Amino acid sequence: MKFVIRNIKRIIRLFFALQLTGIFKLFRNYNRKSKNVILVPTYIKGYFLNSLEHDFVLAGVLVNAGKDYRFVHVSKYKKIRDSFVIYNPHEVFGEGYVNYSKRLTEIVKDLELNKNSVFYPSSDIEWWENKTFMHQKFELLGVRCPETHVIPLDNYSTELNLPLAFPFLIKEEHSCAAQGVHKVNSRSEFDKIVNSDSFKHRNENIIIQKLIKMHRDLRVILIRSEIVLHYWRVNPSDEWKPTSTSHGSNVDFVTFPEQWRNYIINTFEKLNITTGAFDITWDDDDLSTEPYFLEISPSYQPNPPMNVVGKGFTYGQWKKKLLMKDSWDEHYIRIIYSIKEKLLLPIIKKSRQ
Ligand SMILES: Nc1ncnc2c1ncn2[C@@H]1O[C@H](COP(=O)(O)OP(=O)(O)O)[C@@H](O)[C@H]1O
Ligand SMILES: [Mg+2]
Repeated sequence: MKFVIRNIKRIIRLFFALQLTGIFKLFRNYNRKSKNVILVPTYIKGYFLNSLEHDFVLAGVLVNAGKDYRFVHVSKYKKIRDSFVIYNPHEVFGEGYVNYSKRLTEIVKDLELNKNSVFYPSSDIEWWENKTFMHQKFELLGVRCPETHVIPLDNYSTELNLPLAFPFLIKEEHSCAAQGVHKVNSRSEFDKIVNSDSFKHRNENIIIQKLIKMHRDLRVILIRSEIVLHYWRVNPSDEWKPTSTSHGSNVDFVTFPEQWRNYIINTFEKLNITTGAFDITWDDDDLSTEPYFLEISPSYQPNPPMNVVGKGFTYGQWKKKLLMKDSWDEHYIRIIYSIKEKLLLPIIKKSRQ
């Protein structure tokens, strides 16, 4: 049943994505020779796994800016030249390569060598789902994060001395949505995870990080140094768990720690990327302490703002509801459209195509 609902919701999102321009305009502006290229997943399977809505949101931004466009399968990227190329990272590379973030960066670098103007550029996309790179950069640039150690998997043995006391977190290199974040309480738990074939298959390094005592973190989305969306994700239970809404967190779009606004913007500026979503947290949830940056991701799937107070359901329940009007899905398409538009319009205006 869950599977069916998930797919109906996907179709609902596609419906709203097509409505951004209307199907007629989408057809009219499609041009097989267009210099505005949207890279799309290689396999038909990819479409069903990742859905088409994100690609049509990009098409919507181009069409509403008066441009034509075409879709090109990522497998044919070598044929693209002198064009303006845009893509959704998680769409293009949902699976297939273990180190898909590295592979995608290589593809974008090739596109750039072929005189294409690409968004995301390689300098932005190398940050995507690539935690070893991210932590090396954080250290270099002085971005404050919880004490982190990156240990090459080749150095691992059951005798290896661990620089952190239990409990701490293991973070897999390409984790997203907290799927590769493990709390470990003991040496035997640690060895079990690190020694598993699946871990070895997915990781070249073991990233371990001090566990911060916290029940909430702040997601802040920035575009060119402007904060465009922020929300707290609050874990209502006493016990630690990741604050993603899939784990039952509540969401607060209103409160913002103003005293940290400039600090957050300045930290973002150090990274030299166009856009990104930070996950930020505080020791003991105490806003008078200096924040920790847990993560930056140049690609993100934001939760759309909605005030659920007095509505009789939680944000997480709203997200799962099967609705058309005022559904999470409708608001989601609208927010990603407005974010992509803000991100891409200045680049589209400058591009020759
Ligand atoms: N050092 C930490 N201490 C406490 N909680 C953490 C820590 N790092 C991450 N978390 C929690 O786990 C979630 C996922 O971690 P994150 O590093 O963002 O990985 P992912 O890339 O999988 O989202 C965070 O949103 C936060 O709730
Ligand atoms: Mg995260």
